[in-house]
Amino acid sequence: MKNKRLIGIIVGLAVLVVASLIYSSMNKPGAKEEQKVAKVGVLQFVSHPSLDLIYQGIQDGLAEEGYKDDQVKIDFMNSEGDQSKVATMSKQLVANGNDVVVGIATPAAQGLASATKDLPVIMAAVTDPIGANLVKDLKKPGGNITGVSDHNPAEQQVELIKALTPDVKTIGALYSSSEDNSKSQVEEFKAYAEKAGLKVETFAVPSTNEIASTVNVMTSKVDAIWVPIDNTIASAFPTVVSSNQTAKKPIYPSATAMVEAGGLASVVVDQHDLGVATGKMIAKVLKGEKPADTPVNVFSTGKSVINKKLAQELGITIPESVLKEAGQVIE
Ligand code: TRP
Repeated sequence: MKNKRLIGIIVGLAVLVVASLIYSSMNKPGAKEEQKVAKVGVLQFVSHPSLDLIYQGIQDGLAEEGYKDDQVKIDFMNSEGDQSKVATMSKQLVANGNDVVVGIATPAAQGLASATKDLPVIMAAVTDPIGANLVKDLKKPGGNITGVSDHNPAEQQVELIKALTPDVKTIGALYSSSEDNSKSQVEEFKAYAEKAGLKVETFAVPSTNEIASTVNVMTSKVDAIWVPIDNTIASAFPTVVSSNQTAKKPIYPSATAMVEAGGLASVVVDQHDLGVATGKMIAKVLKGEKPADTPVNVFSTGKSVINKKLAQELGITIPESVLKEAGQVIE
């Protein structure tokens, strides 16, 4: 009887010892290291509402993949549209020991690409990765760069312009001469517009300083203004609108934020979605996937956004069919 009790106590103690050994081994430093905090460097080219939305989407996409605030440290920098800051900040982000660096908008991705040839670089919302010399092949990037591209739905934009303003014959394209992302968009838009019987005149500005005077010249020469997904124009869009106040030409920009701020309509790619897709791709690379083998994710289909309130002010009637298919109507 006594022996049985003793054996029982010994067995019980043994179980306790083993359990506590297992428990302590789980909390060893080695096990903790597996959950080390990921370090992600982010360079945003400039502040404008669309890029801000993309950055928010990146954080949401990372969180969806398990990288919440306590599992990822984001080293965020904004070069405020200044090319020399792009260069210095890119070098800093590479030197800071980040696991991955992310460039929001083409100039930022280009800056990071020239700062490192081996650290993974993720492009966020780069319109033309090949034209910008960032990757050679969208399906098989090959180097240390991959990411998400926002291909402007130019053909649908031309259709929308024809549907809303059939009297428009000449369109002025307003963009920045220093952004590689805009050059290819202008060429593509021009090709579709000309196929549809429209004339396109191009107006490239060297910086935001020339926007007001350029818009003044444009409004005397064209029937409507088209703006690509261009950071320089987006960051000074209120100037475009105010310089067009007297002429009141319809403005067709390429992002929702610009339609909300006084553009007439567009067909656009969702900015927050772009960011979420980028966040998810960053997570994949953090988990070991190689940019070389990760195809660029291209967003090329868009939804229309219509500023009905402005259309009324301009005396433009939006066809019911266009309203019915719209992704967003601003009343
Ligand atoms: N696609 C742009 C680039 O390659 C960046 C961008 C994303 C953008 N969304 C935008 C620019 C909206 C203007 C408006 O640089």
